[in-house]
Amino acid sequence: RNLKRQTACRSDINNFSAPFLAVFDSLIPSDEEKVKQKQLMMLLEKLVSKEWPEARLHVYGSCANSFGFSKSDIDSENNLQNVQALTRARVPIVKLMDPVTGISCDICINNVLAVVNTKLLRDYAQVDVRLRQLAFIIKHWAKSRGVNETYQGTLSSYAYVLMCIHFLQQRRPAILPCLQGMEITYFTVVDNVECAYFDQVEKLRNFGSRNGESIAQLVWAFFHYWAYCHDYANDVISIRTGSTLSKRAKDWTRRVGNDRHLICIEDPFEVSHDLGRVVDKYSIRVLREEFERAAEIMQYDSNPCVTLFEPY
Ligand code: CTP
Ligand code: MG
Repeated sequence: RNLKRQTACRSDINNFSAPFLAVFDSLIPSDEEKVKQKQLMMLLEKLVSKEWPEARLHVYGSCANSFGFSKSDIDSENNLQNVQALTRARVPIVKLMDPVTGISCDICINNVLAVVNTKLLRDYAQVDVRLRQLAFIIKHWAKSRGVNETYQGTLSSYAYVLMCIHFLQQRRPAILPCLQGMEITYFTVVDNVECAYFDQVEKLRNFGSRNGESIAQLVWAFFHYWAYCHDYANDVISIRTGSTLSKRAKDWTRRVGNDRHLICIEDPFEVSHDLGRVVDKYSIRVLREEFERAAEIMQYDSNPCVTLFEPY
């Protein structure tokens, strides 16, 4: 691992930026699709308010966080204040498919933190276009390689987007700021959790411009980091602090219940929540082998934009 860590990036890396951007373009939802999503959302709002006049429906997840592929789900959050029994459960979901638009959607209740973290992700995406490009490519890779399945012990799309944000905060010069470390312009309290950060992102449009790294270089470096550089034994990635924290400081050094903390990704608001907690002894190996495979492809393959996404 140490030898590989010193590998300098291949000299022809920038030849791959155009084909990676073509992959990105092919994944962006069309305007037509966005219109359909809005129509379904309006229909659901109507149904909900007819049944429960007090309830409000919010969109969360890839439909609203700028990281949604074409044909991805709508995630709807339905804040039904009169359903007491469900308020403490960890995100029960109703899945449905609208036969008219063919759109699938997940509805859950009282999951306001998801609405707030959706806004945070959307705000980060406004700062530098390379975040959205990188995250689409990483999500596409993860789906193609079967490592975007939380019920099988691999990571959620949300976790991968946090990994991309952390990674871009770490570039030198930085490509993304740490919005939660800046002046507070947005503040809300949800379930006793204070959510505070700088959300005037239109003022940060030039933030990353001192860093001229191309998308191909970033994809290369992302996989290089997770294959050879991340300290899995000791480090927690944290977009909240714009840095890494020690597992010891978070008391994430041993297994507690089902949380094994084999790869540690701190939720930006629910800081006791490790997005890597679904990862087990077996799936950590699968993940790390996939990071290494991707890093090798980015370094040596003649056609990484195809090989990277080959089905497993
Ligand atoms: N979420 C969360 N905590 C998690 C997982 C998800 O709060 N452990 C919330 C986040 O608001 C996230 C949303 O649920 O944006 C949807 O999560 P996910 O499906 O992983 O991300 P999407 O961006 O919707 O990706 P996909 O296109 O794969 O559905
Ligand atoms: Mg989703």
